[in-house]
Amino acid sequence: MRLVKLIANLGYGSRKDVAWMFREGRITDPDGEVLYADDKVEHAQIRIDGEPLDPPTGLILMMHKPLGATCSRKDPGRVVYDLLPPRYRARTPALSTIGRLDRDTSGLLLFTDDGALLHRIISPRAQIAKVYEASLAHDLRGDEQALFASGTMMLESETTPLLPATLQVLAPREARLSISEGRYHQVRRMFAATGNHVQALQRIAIGGLRLDGLQAGAWRPLDAQDVARIFEPANR
Ligand code: URA
Repeated sequence: MRLVKLIANLGYGSRKDVAWMFREGRITDPDGEVLYADDKVEHAQIRIDGEPLDPPTGLILMMHKPLGATCSRKDPGRVVYDLLPPRYRARTPALSTIGRLDRDTSGLLLFTDDGALLHRIISPRAQIAKVYEASLAHDLRGDEQALFASGTMMLESETTPLLPATLQVLAPREARLSISEGRYHQVRRMFAATGNHVQALQRIAIGGLRLDGLQAGAWRPLDAQDVARIFEPANR
């Protein structure tokens, strides 16, 4: 791919803008030698204003989504893309969230520009575990574990039962729930069906990839080992 297109696709500007950046000598190699638009150079050898280029296409990153941000691109309020460098919104192919979390849910959220990877993760056939911790308004009744694990639980206005889910009781009003599908407001609706109410919800893991110590609002790119973890069981 021509350098102008490659750099423009990373969101640094239009092709015209990037052509100007070449003319201004802002695009160099690591030793500061000015590069020209026709040069053949590896991604890792390109600097803009002395800074390495953003990661190439095939990017996947994890964020600790904070409460209050929505997973849409356009919303009058705060969106998760506001937490990433503004250039990341202008990348081609576009960076998308892998599934969604509600505005009032915090925790592990993945993004990628790799359509095939996105599909592998969200495909119902993959049945990748999504693990949530919920704080509840009322004490657990005691029958939730069996009901959620049954494979016969129906949510209101749905026509197929939920896949078996695993509930771990952490305290009378605290639970960890692992589900392997992603229906609309699924966790909140599961507890609502038992007469309870989710007061706070956080996703702590997707497959074997955990939120670990990532602070709310922070994000980081994933390496190959992290990506492999997504396809591993949640309980390592
Ligand atoms: N289930 C919910 O109810 N909300 C989320 O954000 C994710 C799962």
